[in-house]
Amino acid sequence: MPTPDSARWPELICPVCAGLLHLARRPDGRPASLSCEEGHRFDAAKQGHLNLLTGRGSKHAEDTKGMVASRERWLESGHYSPIAAALGRAVARHGRPASSGMDAEDQVPLRMVDTGAGTGYYTRNVLNSWDGPATAVDLDLSKAAAQRAARDFRVLSLVWDTWKDWPLSAGSADVLLDVFAPRNLPEFARVLRPGGLAVVVVPAPQHLRQLRTFGLLGIDEHKEERLATAFSTDFDELDVEDVQSRIDLTPDSAADLIHMGPAGHHSSWETIRDGLVRDPVPHVDLAVRIHAYLRH
Ligand SMILES: C[S@@+](CC[C@H](N)C(=O)[O-])C[C@H]1O[C@@H](n2cnc3c(N)ncnc32)[C@H](O)[C@@H]1O
Ligand SMILES: [Zn+2]
Repeated sequence: MPTPDSARWPELICPVCAGLLHLARRPDGRPASLSCEEGHRFDAAKQGHLNLLTGRGSKHAEDTKGMVASRERWLESGHYSPIAAALGRAVARHGRPASSGMDAEDQVPLRMVDTGAGTGYYTRNVLNSWDGPATAVDLDLSKAAAQRAARDFRVLSLVWDTWKDWPLSAGSADVLLDVFAPRNLPEFARVLRPGGLAVVVVPAPQHLRQLRTFGLLGIDEHKEERLATAFSTDFDELDVEDVQSRIDLTPDSAADLIHMGPAGHHSSWETIRDGLVRDPVPHVDLAVRIHAYLRH
């Protein structure tokens, strides 16, 4: 028997009244709208993403279309595929769909949330590597990023500010991904069910050290301690995997890497690339830590 729609995704709640949201679909299966019993309604953009931010939206600067295009080129060329593979392994090791008590476990979808999901690159890779049905809600402030993430039908792509209460029911997700994105820990703990898994990717001190002069944010020396303290309230750490590699760069790929980060808010891709032609950066070191945490 097919799983009912309401059980397929982490349950969505209305950002205005907190009532349950119902998903209506277009004939081709793409999202059409989300609406609650009180009559609050959010129409999907034609690309399939839904903007749930009401009023003035968020005070945070969103990644622009150009920055998202750079991120897309960088990721799709496979430079960060070791991170995607390690995420897939962490979810395979520790991720479990909630037991429904009725369905065989292999028919119950794994319900993921990817926060600050960007183009949805890691969501798609983890969905592909999961051995069974799985769906995801992607949250990102950037409309350009949400548009890209919506291209995968297994993903419900929402424009949302992670620092606001998430439009998701308590305990409605089995797995949460956070890859280089802001961490709202009270919402991580609320939305993950007990026994759920949070997988968090953080840069190690030597990550992209060759690009320090390009306005990439400095690495916080005490990040690991702060992370451990913050997660200890509601989570147990399961394991950590270090992922390291050296990535060869061309001026174009280096420009993508720099432009997709904070520098993209201040400089054009062309300006960054011109600088790299004059002053090349032949390679960078990738160095990240992938933490897996179990929700108490
Ligand atoms: C460094 S990028 C990582 C994107 C993606 N996880 C990846 O690794 O490709 C950080 C992402 O967080 C998003 N972001 C930043 N502030 C946010 C906020 N307050 N709420 C939601 N998303 C936010 C940005 O739009 C961006 O897509
Ligand atoms: Zn409502």
